Amino acid sequence: MEKLSGWKRSHTCGELKKKDDAAEAILMGWVHNRRDHGGLIFIDLRDRYGLTQVVFDPDLLNDFQKAKDLRGEYVIAIKGKIRKRPEGMHNPNLPTGDIEVAAHELKVLNKAKTPPFEIDENIEVSEELRLKYRYLDLRTQNMQKNMLVRHKVSKIVRNYFDKNNFLEIETPILMRSTPEGARDYLVPSRIHQGKFYALPQSPQTYKQLLMVAGMDRYYQIVRCFRDEDLRADRQPEFTQIDVEMSFVERDDVLNIMEGLMSDVFREVLGLELETPVNRMSYNDAISQYGSDKPDLRFGMKITNITDLVGDCDFKVFTDCVKNNGIVCGLVLKGGAKFSRKQIDDITEEMKQEGAKGLVTIKVSEDGWSSPLSKFFSEEKITELNTAFHAENNDLLLIFADFGEKAFTLSGTLRLKLARQENLIPKDVFALTWILDFPLLEYNEEEGRYVARHHPFTSPNEEDIDHLDSDPGKISAKAYDLVLNGYEIAGGSIRIHSSDLQKRIFELLKISNEEAQDKFGFLMEAFEYGAPPHGGIAFGFDRLVMLLADENSIRNVIAFPKTNSAISLMDGSPSNVSDKQLKELSLRIV
Ligand code: AMO
Ligand code: AMP
Repeated sequence: MEKLSGWKRSHTCGELKKKDDAAEAILMGWVHNRRDHGGLIFIDLRDRYGLTQVVFDPDLLNDFQKAKDLRGEYVIAIKGKIRKRPEGMHNPNLPTGDIEVAAHELKVLNKAKTPPFEIDENIEVSEELRLKYRYLDLRTQNMQKNMLVRHKVSKIVRNYFDKNNFLEIETPILMRSTPEGARDYLVPSRIHQGKFYALPQSPQTYKQLLMVAGMDRYYQIVRCFRDEDLRADRQPEFTQIDVEMSFVERDDVLNIMEGLMSDVFREVLGLELETPVNRMSYNDAISQYGSDKPDLRFGMKITNITDLVGDCDFKVFTDCVKNNGIVCGLVLKGGAKFSRKQIDDITEEMKQEGAKGLVTIKVSEDGWSSPLSKFFSEEKITELNTAFHAENNDLLLIFADFGEKAFTLSGTLRLKLARQENLIPKDVFALTWILDFPLLEYNEEEGRYVARHHPFTSPNEEDIDHLDSDPGKISAKAYDLVLNGYEIAGGSIRIHSSDLQKRIFELLKISNEEAQDKFGFLMEAFEYGAPPHGGIAFGFDRLVMLLADENSIRNVIAFPKTNSAISLMDGSPSNVSDKQLKELSLRIV
């Protein structure tokens, strides 16, 4: 291994161009690949900035054997002369493809074992192996691009909030465990044995206290921890862009966030965001798209035919309508081409999703080619075709079910069909606000209402009267921002009166003592002059994932955990020593 001994990089591996012809360069990096052409050895030298072709020629390099001994991922430094590549040898796919460097000195700064996979994102490698050797995976161009997008977005966020008078304030990582929401990660206290800190699921209470403290406008790019079931868009620790503002109403928060998204779209994607961003009520999102995070990159809205089928002869529909259910579904353009088997597969998949059944009808020139057509009059068939905007060769897919179920099943099927039939356009960014969420949802297991967002969310004024009579009907001053079918942000206007907060706690069956015990500090703070306030938090990883055109947030987090919350690289979670347990007065049972 050789030392740097004063060598300094003159250029990165991504910047040399024709204009640098004949200049001297010192480059450092990793041997990306190596080609031995008898007399000459060519390597691509790699760093974060790109690849540069280096030529070793025994006539120029004294110790040619050293070049012969180079292997992939060796760390080297070369001194050489930049020269234009010979005619016909240019590589138009490489920014440095017009030149090469003829080396006259070579230092091997470090050797490398043969890596468990090639550093090339075009070669399929299992995610397990990638995560175990994450530092090698991060060497691929794609992962380096993702880290760059992430860095860029955080810089835009900081600039944006700074120019809008927000203060970045850090909040504790060790905090009090609070009920509601997901499960907490707990940290045992050594000094106070038997007591625990919790890692924040979000800095929600702190940011509200900062408003009471007069900080006016707060933001933070902050790590949050939730012990919940993981998916491609969920990690046990993830990052939020957390925001809170004083003296604001809902639209003030939405407008500020649209400004941020405009900057992000412009600077990362080169797109001008149309503002105001589309706004849709929760109820419309559910009844038109069967989801509170609708993917608006394509149409295929749900058609509700409940009012049209109460008087047909098909018992599945009429029974459902009689019992206040919903009959609704989709039309798939050209879907009549589906085979029996394809339709059976879709039906089976939807049953897995909880459907009781699925009615499928092929629309043909003379009505419906379906055994069900005998249950519907000719006029009814025409009426339903019109409602669905169905034409010859289309396929109708219909669910009958109760509550929101018929809508959400249709929404699930909508996404499934769109993916299967390639109906989702690429390179489109469809952003929408979802507004007026229900404040509460009934939890059968616990036999009580729970907060849909969190217990500090303000109800809409016009609904406060239903607080006691019909809590399920109350809508909230809550909003989500949805991008391409992902919830990328969520927030609300908060309750800032301790009286209303107490009433909500009562509604959630959180006892006075419990409320006092868990949130007493916040309720007390509200008695010292809390300004009206509201805020929002972005899922930073999800936002970056969509901007980087990835389909898992793991690909935009440097060191993520697996779906079973394990770090394959360092092996956490891990056992700890008996001594550590003893100090904490803990015993594993
Ligand atoms: P919420 O719980 O909706 O709101 O979280 C805000 C945003 O964070 C992202 N997110 C996640 N990302 C990755 N992994 C997870 N496990 C995960 N959980 C959530 C989502 C979500 O939209 N304190 C409130 C915000 C507020 O009211 O101001 C909160 O945390 O993109
Ligand atoms: P059945 O009367 O149960 O034999 O069902 C007749 C047809 O209606 C079958 O194709 C079922 O898949 C379909 N079906 C049954 N229940 C429902 C439902 N709740 N929603 C939609 N289709 C249904």
